[in-house]
Amino acid sequence: MSAISKTQQTSETEQHDTDRTLFASNGQIYTPSAQPDFDQIEEDANSLRQPGTLIGNHYRLEKRMGIGGMSEVWKAIDIIREEGNLRDPYVAIKFLSADFKPHPDALKVFVREFNRYERVVHPNIVRAYKLDRTENETFIVMAFLDGILLTELIKKNPHGLQIKKAKSIIKDMAAALAHAHHEGIAHLDFTPNNIFYDPKTEKIKVIDFGVAQPIKTSEREQTNYTFKGLAALTKPYASYEILMALTPDARADIYSLACISYELLSGKHPYKGNAANEAQQKNLHPAPIKKLNRKQNKVLLNALAIKRNERIDSVENFFNGLFPSPNPVKKCLVISVGIMILLLLLI
Ligand SMILES: Nc1ncnc2c1ncn2[C@@H]1O[C@H](COP(=O)(O)OP(=O)(O)O)[C@@H](O)[C@H]1O
Ligand SMILES: [Mg+2]
Repeated sequence: MSAISKTQQTSETEQHDTDRTLFASNGQIYTPSAQPDFDQIEEDANSLRQPGTLIGNHYRLEKRMGIGGMSEVWKAIDIIREEGNLRDPYVAIKFLSADFKPHPDALKVFVREFNRYERVVHPNIVRAYKLDRTENETFIVMAFLDGILLTELIKKNPHGLQIKKAKSIIKDMAAALAHAHHEGIAHLDFTPNNIFYDPKTEKIKVIDFGVAQPIKTSEREQTNYTFKGLAALTKPYASYEILMALTPDARADIYSLACISYELLSGKHPYKGNAANEAQQKNLHPAPIKKLNRKQNKVLLNALAIKRNERIDSVENFFNGLFPSPNPVKKCLVISVGIMILLLLLI
């Protein structure tokens, strides 16, 4: 099997997630090389993983799909499914990245990510099948997702999506988060890089529960690893409290959801790409979106409040405020008046 070439590594399909910072457990900032070191990656891939590599005699690696700050994700064939002639034998396998693997908390973080997936099974969240290991590697096997990242969809629509399409995506994102919150889990890295969009079905799936945490602080494990101790961020979508290393809760996801919703509707980041703390320093305020009415803008801007105690308090309230369902009484009244006018005209 040929080695992975540099041109392959920078191909459109492979995602490099570079705008991330990790905070080590001693409080120091630990930044995985801003640009992945391709020579190093090539060396690692040659020795460990390359297309065709067998993992535990069960999976055959096919193509590397992405390298994030913490992990490397491959498209793979489940050999058993293939032998059983299943139409779709593909899975995605998530390994720890070469950069992150040496971190003392890496395995704990990884095992917890799988545990979060087990708690939040939902049609708009990627399904994780199992946590497995070979002699050298621990890995998560999950559903392989077709489609593009939301980042790409936003880029392709510089003036925003049609309101109907944006609403449908926002509804699915809100459904995923509302479910996770209901199950007691906050995602805490809710960014367009962690949301898949399938243009065929127009549905989204949320991925990457790598830094997700129980909302109840009492449920957070008493180990060296805490959110404060180790967190991966994509700054323009991270709430102020996360950037300030305060203990985050579900309201952090509401801020991120509002940032993404604003971008889907307008094509622009609400704070012009600035992180929440920079937006506060520069005294930036998001402009209302023309497509939305006054009430809708109020809800959206409220969810974008830098201070969490000023922010809308639940994902449900955010979505129902942004897209209120028509009042049935009002609807009935409009229809009745319409019928009466028609009858009067006919007489
Ligand atoms: N289930 C999947 N199917 C297809 N590609 C995936 C899947 N999960 C992740 N990827 C790809 O791998 C990249 C990194 O995955 P992610 O879970 O976000 O890891 P990290 O924690 O390193 O950010 C994603 O941006 C995406 O391109
Ligand atoms: Mg990610």
